[in-house]
Amino acid sequence: MTRSALITGITGQDGAYLAQLLLGKGYAVAGVSPRRSSDNLWRLRELGVEGDVKLVEADVCDLASILRAIDETKPTEVYNLAAQSFVGTSWKQPLLTGQVTGLGAANVLEAVRLVGKGMRFYQASTSELFGLIQAERQDEKTPFYPRSPYGVAKLYAHWMTINYRESFGIHASTGILFNHESPLRGIEFVTRKVTDAVARIKQGKQEKLHLGNIDAKRDWGFAGDYVDAMWRMMQQEQGDDYVVATGRTTTVRDMCRIAFSHVGLKYEDHVVIDPQFFRPAEVDVLLGNPAKAEAKLGWKATTSLEQLITMMVDADMRRVAAG
Ligand code: NAP
Ligand code: GDD
Repeated sequence: MTRSALITGITGQDGAYLAQLLLGKGYAVAGVSPRRSSDNLWRLRELGVEGDVKLVEADVCDLASILRAIDETKPTEVYNLAAQSFVGTSWKQPLLTGQVTGLGAANVLEAVRLVGKGMRFYQASTSELFGLIQAERQDEKTPFYPRSPYGVAKLYAHWMTINYRESFGIHASTGILFNHESPLRGIEFVTRKVTDAVARIKQGKQEKLHLGNIDAKRDWGFAGDYVDAMWRMMQQEQGDDYVVATGRTTTVRDMCRIAFSHVGLKYEDHVVIDPQFFRPAEVDVLLGNPAKAEAKLGWKATTSLEQLITMMVDADMRRVAAG
């Protein structure tokens, strides 16, 4: 029997990599794509899979459209990756973030409960749940303390997933994924903002890069590795919760140093600290302990931060050169 998957958020960074991974494993892959006035398929195109996935026009805020998407595609696995995922925006649009990132997940769960008998469900949880960290290295047992409307919305979605697993016996898993990046990362996130700027500065198209809190620390991995962890969770006998991380944390400052030095520049000559990029409440440091994912899923991050950032700078150097 052909295995099939429905991915909400298929047009985002993780959605595109996950689609590519699942197609490679022989899945029939469908994706929920909300109507947008401009092109949102560029990532699927860059990975060469745009023509291989079936796109269903639907929106996680519209339960009826998700029911129809499930009915039309009859997936065996449902991956809920859709979100308003930019933490900074979540203070400017807190209610929208709650509707998409929080209630949107509940809509997809409810659709699976109503018409998705036997379907497996994955929820894109996040290290932002740990926020003001309650342990030096965060694992599945670390208490949560979200620090943004985004984190709070994700907390609701996380517990709804666990609740549906316990209440209705749904095979539902949460991946508490730490930051993961790639050349397909949205330009608003700090790694891609930096690698794009490095390419522009190197090619004489920009001089300065305005950033906020460069002393924040993150546990950064490669998105290609992380979608593999999602798939592995879905292959387990039972749904469960897993931290997915590299186990190494680095400041934004040191990430900048890696990016600029890759093309022979010094970040100190170009980075300007700009108050507009500071957040109302900051997550100062994240450092994950992926021991459970390693032991139970046989998963391990394969890409170092240096490899990741140089891959991103090289991709942006090519993009900027191509205009
Ligand atoms: P992303 O690039 O921002 O992608 C988000 C996706 O959600 C896009 O495809 C977007 O579609 C879609 N979307 C937004 N609103 C929607 C709606 N109302 N209905 C249906 N789809 C909607 O995010 P990502 O980095 O791939 O992350 C994937 C998921 O993992 C997100 O839930 C994110 O919060 C979570 N997460 C990410 C990380 C990370 O470091 N990347 C870490 C932990 C958790 P459009 O493109 O058309 O707007
Ligand atoms: N975006 C951005 N822009 N961040 C900056 C800047 C800037 O100019 N300057 C400093 N930073 C700092 C932020 O304050 C934050 O501490 C850190 O860089 C990382 O910011 P982002 O790259 O925007 O990611 P994030 O950690 O807030 O959220 C990402 O990771 C989460 C998992 O921990 C997103 O992908 C979330 O969706 C995800 O859940």
